[in-house]
Amino acid sequence: MRVIAHRGASGHEPENTLLAIEAALKMQVDAVEIDIHQTEGELIVIHDRWLHKTTDGEGRVSEKPLSQLKLLDAGKGEKIPTLWEVLTLVAGRCDLNIELKSEKTVKPLLAMLEKAMSRLGFEQSQFLLSSFNHHLLREIKLLDMAWRIGALTGSRPINYARFAEKLDAYSIHIDIDFVDECFVNDAHERGLKVFVYTVDYEEDIADLHRMRVDGIFTNYPTRSMVRIAHL
Ligand code: G3P
Ligand code: CA
Repeated sequence: MRVIAHRGASGHEPENTLLAIEAALKMQVDAVEIDIHQTEGELIVIHDRWLHKTTDGEGRVSEKPLSQLKLLDAGKGEKIPTLWEVLTLVAGRCDLNIELKSEKTVKPLLAMLEKAMSRLGFEQSQFLLSSFNHHLLREIKLLDMAWRIGALTGSRPINYARFAEKLDAYSIHIDIDFVDECFVNDAHERGLKVFVYTVDYEEDIADLHRMRVDGIFTNYPTRSMVRIAHL
């Protein structure tokens, strides 16, 4: 079962910051998950549309130029990173799950990932692009079938694995509240991986392991890795 650091090692350091991602790399996670938004001319790494949720700023992320965003404190004095800064830090050392949180991110994202593959040592298969907005995932696939996409759901839609298969998804990412063995088996029979968020409790890790889930998003990677090693 793969361990994916949710928003970096966000149980230890401020979420979606270089500090949290560096901590996850030190823990030797399989992958890091980050959230991206589009602001004026830049892809930046932050979870929410509103700045007050994770920084000392206010207003909408999308309406601020990068120069203003870079003045804000995202926790422990960390700045909101650009996607390029994260790619430069990770530089192919682990896989990267990039969750698209806003519209108009697809084309600039794919262009940046192409650059990261040629300059930073990433393989295309190290990137997994996910979103709750399945229109964005379809847009990615229409541009280039080779990208791996992860179909996110925060509920349990009927025939979800069949839907994800039609979307040509690599994986389904599902909230822990909605996953069960039947769901996992259906996905596996269709050749889809199942990744579950957000998993921080030992009993949950054991249950998901029994269900043969392929990976978990966790805020506490080391703790989760120790638990998995003992299963
Ligand atoms: O990608 C898994 C998980 O991060 C999705 O939910 O709200 O934490 O971005 P959220
Ligand atoms: Ca996310």
